[in-house]
Amino acid sequence: MPRILSGIKPTGKPHLGNYFGMLRPAIEWQDRGQALYFLADYHALTTVRDPAKLREHSRGVALDFLACGLDPAKAVLFKQSDVPQVTELTWILSTITPMAMLENAHAYKDHLAKNLKPDHGLFAYPVLMAADILIYDSDIVPVGKDQKQHVEITRDLAAKMNQLYGDIFKIPEPSILPALATIPGLDGQKMSKSYDNTIELFLEEKALKKKIMGITTDSTPVEAPKNPENSSIVNLYKLFVPAADVEKMEADFRAGGTGYGDFKKRLFEAIWVYFEPMRKRRAEIAADPKYIDEVLVRGSEMANDLASKTLQRVRTAVGLE
Ligand code: ADP
Ligand code: TRP
Repeated sequence: MPRILSGIKPTGKPHLGNYFGMLRPAIEWQDRGQALYFLADYHALTTVRDPAKLREHSRGVALDFLACGLDPAKAVLFKQSDVPQVTELTWILSTITPMAMLENAHAYKDHLAKNLKPDHGLFAYPVLMAADILIYDSDIVPVGKDQKQHVEITRDLAAKMNQLYGDIFKIPEPSILPALATIPGLDGQKMSKSYDNTIELFLEEKALKKKIMGITTDSTPVEAPKNPENSSIVNLYKLFVPAADVEKMEADFRAGGTGYGDFKKRLFEAIWVYFEPMRKRRAEIAADPKYIDEVLVRGSEMANDLASKTLQRVRTAVGLE
């Protein structure tokens, strides 16, 4: 049985990009192997500097993940920081990590390009992520496309450690679904908290409608034919409805006579209906505040066991013991 591992940063409320890029694939994987998922709160510290917010988002992301179908009987859910062994492995890995490898990492380069002053945490972010993956002997890492480089760095570091110290790590594989590689946001570019163009999964009906109505469109008049290609409305709609409904919307785009407002209403309906069962489940979980704590405690016990074993192996291999 393959071991599957992924993490999500508790930096805000999960959005459709997170759902299709990471949460849903992770939930599908829970039936196909031994799955471990965590809230990457050590990673979140590189951007969230308000302790109350970090706590709130950690619980919130756990709640949404469970509501979407993560089943604690099948998959282990835990907080990254409940397994502090991962920071020791991060240090050991950092002793063999070339500076040049980190200087090439996207997040760091983006920071420099924007003339921001990166902290060491941001620079070393991929090493912590490598430790996350390697400490659980992971085979498969389901993530969105933007995380591919991090998994490649992980593979390089594992190979280098194996070369230096013998076979201590498994070499993990990323799992990225091409059709869902990049979910567009309200403005058509990649949906991301950093671009303020997100559609969160569990908005109130009114708030969701308002967001959908805010999707950027061109100023083609109602009567005129419209181009369905590269339309964020159509691209988002595709994620929620069968092919026949997509074809109907595309045909209506081309025919003219329907305004963007009507297409947005259809999209709203599709999203609202899709998340209906998950909203119900979310309300049930939220009604029992102890449930999330219990899930996370049980998860951290299992994760601790696995991590301690790997760390012991590594400490011996490198000569700390
Ligand atoms: P954000 O860009 O909003 O800060 P994160 O970096 O926290 O999102 O991403 C968490 C997970 O969701 C990652 O696996 C990432 O690849 C995936 N993801 C985020 N945005 C998208 C998107 N627009 N399309 C596909 N996957 C995404
Ligand atoms: N860096 C990932 C993100 O921004 C989160 C993450 C941290 C992760 N550690 C991981 C994902 C290990 C997969 C495996 O979304």
